[in-house]
Amino acid sequence: MNELLVDSPFRQDILKGLSANPKYLLPKYFYDARGDELFQQIMHCPEYYLTQAEAEILSLQSRRILERCANTSGQFDIVELGAGDGSKTIFLLQEALRMQCSQQYYPIDISPSMIAYLNQNLGAKLPGMQVSGLAGDYFDMLEQLQTANDQPKLVLFLGATVGNMLPREAVQFFQQLKSFLRQGDHVLVGFDLKKNPQTILDAYNDKGGLTKAFNLNLLQRINRELGANFQLHQFSHFPVYDPITGSCKSYLISTCDQRVTFDDDTVIAFERDEPIYMEVSQKYSKTEIQQLASQAGFKPVESFYDSRHQFADVLWRVSSE
Ligand SMILES: C[S@@+](CC[C@H](N)C(=O)[O-])C[C@H]1O[C@@H](n2cnc3c(N)ncnc32)[C@H](O)[C@@H]1O
Repeated sequence: MNELLVDSPFRQDILKGLSANPKYLLPKYFYDARGDELFQQIMHCPEYYLTQAEAEILSLQSRRILERCANTSGQFDIVELGAGDGSKTIFLLQEALRMQCSQQYYPIDISPSMIAYLNQNLGAKLPGMQVSGLAGDYFDMLEQLQTANDQPKLVLFLGATVGNMLPREAVQFFQQLKSFLRQGDHVLVGFDLKKNPQTILDAYNDKGGLTKAFNLNLLQRINRELGANFQLHQFSHFPVYDPITGSCKSYLISTCDQRVTFDDDTVIAFERDEPIYMEVSQKYSKTEIQQLASQAGFKPVESFYDSRHQFADVLWRVSSE
């Protein structure tokens, strides 16, 4: 076994999660090359309304969003946390070029293949925009960026990725984010709104089985990268939505008593019906979004909704007022 891999953060996090009670895995590890592909497919499946809703906001309201930023910041760099394929962000970047308020885009993503894709393809589609992708964890990359330049910033955190945290974790996340920003900088956050519970549950339980495959792919990744022997067909996918808390949680359930062995001889035992908690997709009310801004110390500027009010892109400013 490669010694470097023995202590890799991936191995440590996976073994820590699978040794916990209840067992869990971290959603940031969904995104290997196959996970990226599956997520692109989920974004286009009929039940996953989030993508269309946010694309509608950004295609129709980017000018207004950027005007609100340019009011205080003039020229600014655009930084995106968890950029994915940038397919919705492009509307905002095109508008920024037209308005001449930004010529620099820094997409940050933990997936190196997504960053390679953006570096190669986005610049060609956006003549005049400098695309400088950063592959790594949000705050590690923000730190690199902070030492590299001190331009005013608009930070995008789109696609309801904030929902992969529970509300109390989101407060801490935004407090930490604020420590990288300056007075007058802006943050645009995509929130999925609370709505008909069945609509939400269907989005995480698509008929085509893409969400199931996306979850199982993490077990496949563990098999490949950590020499484990998960039998994928011995796990079922189980999403639940609680309309009071707004948490939609996904689990993989062990369908039998089983033992999984890793290449370092670690053995993880599963009982029949034992869950692995895979991810939360947190939904928010408009009031809860306001509360989050105030707890994290941001000043709400304006909220932008799709025509069906399913989704919100919310603009906050760093301000001492
Ligand atoms: C739900 S997807 C959203 C992608 C895109 N923003 C969109 O709206 O389509 C989350 C993205 O965040 C990235 N990501 C997840 N955890 C991350 C982390 N800790 N640091 C950097 N990127 C992360 C994933 O690789 C993935 O591309």
